[in-house]
Amino acid sequence: MTKKLDLYKCNVCGNLVEVVLEGEGELVCCGQPMEHVKPHSPNEEMLGEKHVPVISVTENETEIRVGSIPHPMEDKHYIQFIEAYSPDKNYVKRKYLYPNDEPLLKFKCHCAKVVARELCNIHGLWESPQ
Ligand SMILES: [Fe+2]
Repeated sequence: MTKKLDLYKCNVCGNLVEVVLEGEGELVCCGQPMEHVKPHSPNEEMLGEKHVPVISVTENETEIRVGSIPHPMEDKHYIQFIEAYSPDKNYVKRKYLYPNDEPLLKFKCHCAKVVARELCNIHGLWESPQ
């Protein structure tokens, strides 16, 4: 059983999929079950400072930076996307990033609260504290 917005990765070909609507079946790619990708603990080792998304909300805009110390955006090590969603998961915003981009997502939002997560190509998935 999958859950809305869960991420699954194929460890053979690298496909990464997000669940849009939940279902009972197991997700399979390249002939084997896909791995459920879960976020790291925010306090993990010293990587958290550069990976945990930092959310700031102004009057009409929400800004998400990766992390409290900016994450590198180099060819071999960079943030692949930043995603924000409402706690009920009914509103989702995602921005794809590439080397040399600023690890930043800005958008207009009327949500009282958002959850943010990002994927580092080397260090995996990180989520804002709930
Ligand atoms: Fe990283």
